Amino acid sequence: MRTLREFIISLPKAELHLHIEGTLEPEMMFDLAMRNGVSLPYASVDEVRAAYDFADLQSFLDLYYAGAAVLVTEEDFFDLTWAYLERAKADGVVHVEIFFDPQTHTERGIEFGTVLNGIARALKLGELYLGITHRLIMCFLRHLDEESALATLEQARPYLQFIDGVGLDSGERGNPPAKFEKAFHAAHEMGLRAVAHAGEEGPAGNVTDALTLLKVERIDHGVNAIDDLELVAHLATHRIPLTMCPLSNQRLQVTPDLSAHPLKKLMDAGVLVTVNSDDPAYFGGYVADNYVAIAEALDLTEADIAALAENSLLASWR
Ligand code: ADE
Ligand code: ZN
Repeated sequence: MRTLREFIISLPKAELHLHIEGTLEPEMMFDLAMRNGVSLPYASVDEVRAAYDFADLQSFLDLYYAGAAVLVTEEDFFDLTWAYLERAKADGVVHVEIFFDPQTHTERGIEFGTVLNGIARALKLGELYLGITHRLIMCFLRHLDEESALATLEQARPYLQFIDGVGLDSGERGNPPAKFEKAFHAAHEMGLRAVAHAGEEGPAGNVTDALTLLKVERIDHGVNAIDDLELVAHLATHRIPLTMCPLSNQRLQVTPDLSAHPLKKLMDAGVLVTVNSDDPAYFGGYVADNYVAIAEALDLTEADIAALAENSLLASWR
C-alpha cells in the first residue's frame, strides 16, 4: 500500500516559503567552516543538532545568523542552493520561490553579487537539470533599520533581472510592518512584487498592516490571523495566500502542539493556505515532512492534502 509520504511526494507542488540560509545542514556547516577557515563554537555535527532546541523565534535567529558565517564564496552559495534543490526534487517540488537575506552577508563584508550570483546560478541549473522552475525573493531584516533596507534595495539594482520580489523577515516583535513602508514603496516603484512575514509571533494586526501599508500579495506564516475573523474573511475573499510552516511553528513554540495549529480552520474558511518548510535544516524536515506532520496532527484527508498542493501552485508566481 502507498504510504502517506509517498502520496504527498507524488503531488506536484511549489515551495513558497524557504529561506536558503535555513537549508544549511550541520554537515555542510562543518564542511564550509573547514573550507573557509571559519571557527565554529561546536565540536561536532551532533553538538550542533543538540543546540537546536528553541524557546522562541529570537533564540533560533541567534543560532541561524551565527551559522550563516560559514557562507563566504559564490561557490558556497551555489552549493547550498544546489543541495536544497536536490532535496526539493526528491519531495516532488516542481517550483520554488526562495528567500535570501542579503544583509546577513553584506553586514559581514560579503559582496551582494557573491551571494546573488551563487544562488542564481544554482537556480538556473536546477531548471535545466532538475526541471524545477523558480522565483527569487530578497528579504529585508526587520531588526535592522529602514535605511539599511533602502541601501540593500540600491545594491540589488544591477541584479533586478534575477529578483522577483521583496520580503520581510527576522524578529517580528517590536518591528511592525509600518517600519518599512518607504522601503516597500521603493521596491514597488522598481517593479518588484512583495510578501512579508506577519502574524508569526506578532498579532493579527501585523497581517492587516502588511497588506495595507506594505501592499504585499502573500503573507508568510499568518498563524495569528485566526484571531481576527474579519481578517480571515478578507483573506478568503481576496484569495490572499498564507505560506504556513507547521514544523517551524512547532519548533519555535508558536503552536507547540501541532493539533492546535489553525491551518485546517483557515482552509475551511476558504483561505488559500499552503505548506512550506521555512528553515528545514533547523526545524527537522523538508516540505514533505511538513505535509506529513500537519496531515497527521490535524487528521487531514487525501482531498485536503491534494488541495494544499494545488494551492501552492495557485499561490505561486509561476
Ligand atoms: N528568518 C528565517 N526564518 C524565519 C522565521 N521563521 N521568521 C522570521 N524570520 C526568519
Ligand atoms: Zn520564514
